[in-house]
Amino acid sequence: MQASAAQPAATPPSYVLSRSLVTISDPKGGPAEAIRALRTHVMAQHIEAGRRALAVCAASQETGSTYITANLAIAMSQIGLKTLLIDGNLRRPGIDQIIRPPSAPQGLSQCLADDEDDYTGYIETDILPNLSVMYSGGSPSNPQELLARDRFETLMNVCLRDFDLTIMDTPAANSCSDARRISSVLGYSMIVTRRDWTRVDDVKTLIGQIQADGAKVIGTVLNDF
Ligand SMILES: Nc1ncnc2c1ncn2[C@@H]1O[C@H](COP(=O)(O)OP(=O)(O)O)[C@@H](O)[C@H]1O
Ligand SMILES: [Mg+2]
Repeated sequence: MQASAAQPAATPPSYVLSRSLVTISDPKGGPAEAIRALRTHVMAQHIEAGRRALAVCAASQETGSTYITANLAIAMSQIGLKTLLIDGNLRRPGIDQIIRPPSAPQGLSQCLADDEDDYTGYIETDILPNLSVMYSGGSPSNPQELLARDRFETLMNVCLRDFDLTIMDTPAANSCSDARRISSVLGYSMIVTRRDWTRVDDVKTLIGQIQADGAKVIGTVLNDF
């Protein structure tokens, strides 16, 4: 590595932010501008209508679901919205790669498996101003079973009470039904697509499934990279 190469930014005390967090690493660049345009849209279509939860879904892996979820969460926190980012991908977690914690934290898996009345104890609060994170807490062997628990609904009620926006990343919908379950509990879903990657038929199928489960699809995003 050259001596002049930029290092990932470190936030106190010791979370390390990936450079793919363009809303922080390159706030003046085109990709960050695109995220802010998405933020404007989500604000107008969703937040200002009084809705405070959003599942981010993609039909297949490598579409950019985690990238969009994390950057959108940061962009929302940057305008003063008290934001909770949850890694709902219990199969292939990614938020811990983008906002690297100092040590492996507990998170959604442990929260859902717990039988105690503690939900907020699994949230890492104010990692950045207005941004809290609930990590996946590893990759449990029984993700579907955990997400099916009533506790997930109670957790969401707590999040809606405590945060202006709860935004949740999900696993690729073609590999499991977790994204459908998460969309149905959160009530609202946004679909990420990728140019020359996502099949139109797969998106139509996913939208149909999410709607059949009673959730609203607030829109689709074209992630062009
Ligand atoms: N708009 C983008 N610009 C640049 N890189 C991107 C963009 N969207 C995604 N990526 C990169 O592509 C890879 C896959 O994205 P990721 O968000 O992990 O996909 P998914 O969560 O859908 O599997 C990651 O390395 C990510 O940093
Ligand atoms: Mg991902």
